[in-house]
This record gives sequence, C-alpha cells and structure tokens, in this order.
Amino acid sequence: MTEKQTILLEAADPETGAEAVARAGEILRRGGIVAIPTETVYGLAADAANPEAVAAIFEAKGRPADNPLIVHISRMEQLDEVAAARPAGLEALAERFWPGPLTVICPKGDRIPLITSGGLDTVAVRMPSHPVARAIIEASAPLAAPSANRSGSPSTTTAQHCIDDLWGRVDAIVASGRCAVGVESTVISLCGEAPTLLRPGAVTLEQLRKVLGRVDLGKGVLERLKEGAKVLSPGLKYKHYAPKADVELVRGDSAGYTAYVRARAAEDPGLWAMCFAEDEEGLGDLPRLCYGGADDYAAQTEALFDDLRRLDALGVRRVLAHAPKPQGMGLAVYNRLVRSAGFHITDV
Ligand code: TXA
Ligand code: MG
Repeated sequence: MTEKQTILLEAADPETGAEAVARAGEILRRGGIVAIPTETVYGLAADAANPEAVAAIFEAKGRPADNPLIVHISRMEQLDEVAAARPAGLEALAERFWPGPLTVICPKGDRIPLITSGGLDTVAVRMPSHPVARAIIEASAPLAAPSANRSGSPSTTTAQHCIDDLWGRVDAIVASGRCAVGVESTVISLCGEAPTLLRPGAVTLEQLRKVLGRVDLGKGVLERLKEGAKVLSPGLKYKHYAPKADVELVRGDSAGYTAYVRARAAEDPGLWAMCFAEDEEGLGDLPRLCYGGADDYAAQTEALFDDLRRLDALGVRRVLAHAPKPQGMGLAVYNRLVRSAGFHITDV
C-alpha cells in the first residue's frame, strides 16, 4: 500500500483534546481512517456508511474481507440508522450495559454497506463509553472500527502500540492513554434462535444471563472450531492475538504450574513465564511477567495485550502462560490466551 502521512493527535488532556477530536472528526467525514481510543482497546475507525473508507481499514490492517467490523454509535437514535430492527432483548441490554463494552449483533440496515458487515445481513453495534470515542462519533458519524492492530497481532491498548502497528498506514492516531478494560468488547448475537455469546469480554456471561435468562455459549469461544464448521462469528476462525513467541497455556494450581515451569526451564533456559502474583515465589529467579493476581481478572485483562507485546519486544521465543479460571471476566482472558497459544494447552 502507499505510505500515508500519519499525524498524531493528543487527546489525553480535555483542553487540547477538543482540538484533536475536531481534527479527527474532519478526517473521518472526508473518508479518512483514524485510530481512536475506546474503553476496551484502540479502534481503527472510518465512516461506517462509506465503502471506500471502510475498504481502507481492511487494507491498513491486512484484514480478511469476510471478517465484519463493529459499528460504533454514540446515541440510541443512531441505532435505527445502522440496524433494520431492534431485536428482542436489545433494549434491556442497552439499558443495562450501554454505553460500555458490549457489542450486539442486529439485523443490518440498508445504509450500512456489505463491506462493513463482511457480506453478512447482520451488523455488530456498540456504544462505547470512552469520552473521546463518543466525541469523535458526535463530530463525524457512526464509525466502523475493528481493533487498531495489524491483523493477527495482539490488540492495541496504548497509543504507542498503534504507532508500532499502523504508522504510515493510517491518516491519524488519537492518543489518550491506556485503555481501562484492555480486552475487546463482549459480543452477543440476538439474531439466532437464542441469544448467543460470540466473544467474552468485560460484560460477563453471568451478567448477560441475569438480564436475558438464557444465553448460549457460542462454539469456538473456548475450544478450537472444527475444520469446515459453520461459524457464527467470522473472527473466531482466524488466528488471533498471537505474539511471535510460541505460547503454551498451562491449566492448574500454583504449585502445579510453578513445578511445570521449573522443569521445562531446566531444558530450555530461554523460556519465560507469564504468571500470577501467587506464582512468583514458586518461580524463584526464572524470567517472567506477572499479569495480575489469580482472581484479579480486571488486572489480567488490563495487562494481557501489553504483556504479549512486551514479550515480543524482549525477543522471547517460548512462553508458559498460567491460565485463569474461565469464569467472570476470566473467560475473556482465557479466550484470548488460548488463541495466542494456538490452542496448545497443558493440564498439570
Ligand atoms: O472492543 C471492541 O469491540 C473493539 C473496539 C475498537 O470497539 N473492536 C473490536 O473489533 O474488537 P474487531 O473487529 O477486532 O472484532 C469484531 C468481532 C470479530 O470477531 C467479528 O468477527 C465479530 O466481532 N463480528 C462483527 N460483526 C459481526 C456480525 N455481523 N456477526 C457476527 N460476528 C461479527
Ligand atoms: Mg481485532
């Protein structure tokens, strides 16, 4: 692709932030592509109704054309611009979780081109809570925005990650610190027989069931999809969140995990642990990144992608990651790590 003259717009400070928002809004209205902060991860945004602008997102990311984008809105009225109908359950979910880290699959409205929905007749909609994201939508239009990383790499949770992945490939990057949640939004489909969780995130399965009653767990959330299986969410088929290192996900208690890491490290001194605070003592002086307490899922989600990128920057070749329990927000962490590991799991 031809190199773009990327500009960096600083929006951490509310004063200068207003200028950055106005510039970003202008670029987006003209059909440009801009990396913007959200409360989950940074997104690479374009006007969702402009097919050429959306095509530029796919090109900048190197994203497969059949992997649909999420459309971000800032007000409920915009929902009716992008979706053909409000499916049963939507209003209850919006009431409880919007604005926030929840994406809902709805029937697609005519104004959203097929390139945005990856050729599907449904559209993913989310109303972010990040004030800068909301202001940029207000200053432009409903925005299609996948995570602002090169396709296949871990998502970006700081402006520096966006610079590392997208400098020269996008028109602007809006910098606004670290994303509070750290993993992408929860995705739920309301277009099937029963509400189905397609991607776990900070809004948990348990919370969704409290609002909707029955919510099924989508195939592919916890286990590898079978070859040729019908996929509800195209994103589930692709390799994801993968650092350059070879990651192995280790399930078990702290004693089992640390004993396993010590044994493997005796054969392979270049190995690193990605562990919980509780494991540190048992690891002695083995190299590691600690990504939170074993039950502190919020700390784990915040650190996860930054740590995967740090391991790459350190040139680490092999990582033994301690798996969180697949419950609450731990399910989101587990889902990302098992993909980083290419489903290489060891039980100890
Ligand atoms: O938190 C987030 O959701 C971030 C920020 C930027 O908002 N965005 C994000 O987008 O994670 P992306 O493109 O990386 O992930 C979107 C996921 C993909 O797995 C995609 O396959 C799925 O949502 N998806 C989008 N539209 C869909 C649809 N119509 N039906 C089923 N799955 C869909
Ligand atoms: Mg992504």
